Amino acid sequence: MSRVSEKQHKAEHRNRPTGEAFMAFMREGWAPRSDELPELTDAARYAAARREALSATFPGERLVVPAGGLKIRSNDTDYVFRPHSAFAHLTGLGADREPDAVLVLDPLPSGEGHGATLYFLPLADRDSEEFFADSRSGEFWVGSRPTLTSASAELGLSTRHLSELPDAMAKDLGPSGLAVRVVRDADREVATTVDRVREQSGLSSGEQAQEADLELARTLSTMRLVKDAWEVAQMQEAVEATATAFDAVVEHLPEAVRRGRGERWVEGVFGLHARHAGNGVGYDSICAAGDHATTLHWIRNTGEVRDGDLLLLDAGVETDALYTADVTRTVPVSGRFTEPQRRVYEAVLEAQEAGLAAVRPGNKFKDVHAAAIEVIARHLLEWGLLPEDVTLEQTLDADEGQFHRRWMVHGTSHHLGLDVHDCAQALREDYVEGELREGMVLTVEPGLYFKSDDLLVPEELRGIGVRIEDDVVVTADGARNLSAMLPRTVPEVEAWVREGGRRR
Ligand code: GLY
Ligand code: MN
Ligand code: MN
Repeated sequence: MSRVSEKQHKAEHRNRPTGEAFMAFMREGWAPRSDELPELTDAARYAAARREALSATFPGERLVVPAGGLKIRSNDTDYVFRPHSAFAHLTGLGADREPDAVLVLDPLPSGEGHGATLYFLPLADRDSEEFFADSRSGEFWVGSRPTLTSASAELGLSTRHLSELPDAMAKDLGPSGLAVRVVRDADREVATTVDRVREQSGLSSGEQAQEADLELARTLSTMRLVKDAWEVAQMQEAVEATATAFDAVVEHLPEAVRRGRGERWVEGVFGLHARHAGNGVGYDSICAAGDHATTLHWIRNTGEVRDGDLLLLDAGVETDALYTADVTRTVPVSGRFTEPQRRVYEAVLEAQEAGLAAVRPGNKFKDVHAAAIEVIARHLLEWGLLPEDVTLEQTLDADEGQFHRRWMVHGTSHHLGLDVHDCAQALREDYVEGELREGMVLTVEPGLYFKSDDLLVPEELRGIGVRIEDDVVVTADGARNLSAMLPRTVPEVEAWVREGGRRR
């Protein structure tokens, strides 16, 4: 095992020259490469501190964190590469770096702490065939890549050629030597290799080993619940870029209406800004007009955007360092809510206010949902939508009630960071039941969704879907709404649309 990227089929018809004279000709006549080294990045400084925290949890064990490899999209073209979030967190590498790389933390001989080594495919010399003939990593095809020394300077860790990884992974393992853990879901092939070296070294394998790996994944997920200062700044950057992209979408609403297939136009405008300001979208944008807004993850975006409809846009810019925003605004395409649209919107807004007010240190994560959903349930009760004779207490009962969830089936919040649904492997006791702590970033996103074929709701409400989603960082004594710059109240949203995306 060295490269874990999916193997591409070579086209039979390809005819690249291979003659000796041609090869020699390709190798010569290039100006020397610069030997200037990059500076250690801020991202790398913070990543070093995170590796130290991880090291303290697993003393004396080898920890293997793959970036993952290229995945084929179609024949010989790959999906744009995005490293696994645990790898990004522990190296500071973002954007499309580095396919096939693996970070290995090895216990230091002193027994104290770990040393970090990045195994990756460095820039190939000009006298290699890879230089001009490898369409996936060659400089001729995909551009320059770091050398071992430049990556080491940039990241503040040791670097080795990927070809040395198999031996390095197996070295000193054994019942009286080291144990090893791997982030399994980052790359299945690396995980299989780790399983094999475990067996060869007489270490326990099978279920026990998988449990050990799960514990590593859980620890990495839990570590990310609290963001450091650099991460909070990244989140703010992601949200600011997202707000700019939302403005652009609102500016383009008349165009989306005029062109037809307006949801795609909206997706494109948002995507343009996301790709320009950052790495791209953090997840597929939900551009849902009219009844499509009642489909929670509507990402087909094939529909019309019509005057008189609401447009629900749930989208986030991911920074180059891979931190994503996750914001939703629901706006009347015409610039004015109809009375039923407004009624639903105001109810969701009130629920969101209640949720936002519950975000403070000491409260539990689940308190945010409890605060928001109670408002949702109360409105549904007042509108006569819950089953007859069901009281507020009864519907809020976790086991026997929850009738209101027919119209808001999702949770109110999730952690947000490198993954849009961040820290997903953290245990319930640390996540849902956990206390909110300074540096946590979460969404507050209640909604109400009345499907057009829902016969239990009055006709005037059918086909209305509203979600309002903001990204909030927990501070020492409360919370800061990172996306507060975006219009949220009815008059603010109406003015925003009418003024073509200009915020007041
Ligand atoms: N965009 C998916 C979510 O809000 O969780
Ligand atoms: Mn969202
Ligand atoms: Mn969300």
